[in-house]
Amino acid sequence: MILIAPSIIAADLADLKNAVIMAEKGNADLIHLDVMDGNFVPNITFGFSTIKALRKYTNILFDTHLMISNPLKYVDNFINAGSDIITVHIEVCNAETLREIIDKINDKGKKAGIALNPNTDFPEWVIEMLDAVYLLNIMSVYPGFSGQKLIPETLIKMKRVHEMIKELGLKTVIEADGGVEENNIAEVIRAGAEIIVAGNAIYSKNDIPKAIRDLRFNAQLALKEAA
Ligand code: DX5
Ligand code: ZN
Repeated sequence: MILIAPSIIAADLADLKNAVIMAEKGNADLIHLDVMDGNFVPNITFGFSTIKALRKYTNILFDTHLMISNPLKYVDNFINAGSDIITVHIEVCNAETLREIIDKINDKGKKAGIALNPNTDFPEWVIEMLDAVYLLNIMSVYPGFSGQKLIPETLIKMKRVHEMIKELGLKTVIEADGGVEENNIAEVIRAGAEIIVAGNAIYSKNDIPKAIRDLRFNAQLALKEAA
């Protein structure tokens, strides 16, 4: 199963409503919303008010990626704004706060995600929580900006984490996030990613719906060839 999640910070930030409508026209599975606080990452994008404003323009699931230093403080705001998946960074959590965040998200019937920066190894202490975690965002760029180049070493980690999940018989899916485009999507799929976040590869094109369809086609081709 491959899910395509257009990352709207790569779109025209003066017209995010159109970015969402175009993603729907391309039959995107998720809309990836990158929230940045200027503290955890050196960029500031938008918050839960923007997510709430965009919610009425599509029924596509909102995949909210919190690149913020204090996710526990704001997770309820992002759930109430209409997020369906809320992903927090392991770098700003400990076992206690992460457990609290995951429980908050699941108690509201939403899905929890954990993100790891390229230089963060998967921590053993997270394993016992994975049965309550929907996705693992194995970032393929350093967080902060769209349009960066995929870091190939992150695919080695992706493969290792994917194998661990399979060995443990868990259902957690891997999300690849950052620098994914038609020339590298095959190796991203072979590394075990099932959710493909793509910003620049989609929103830099003139025909956005076609770009989403093309990316899905290439991903499904790679999945078939990898089988
Ligand atoms: C980076 C974000 C990514 C990024 C994806 O901090 O988490 O979601 O916007 O955009 P591309 O595909 O252009 O790297
Ligand atoms: Zn992201």
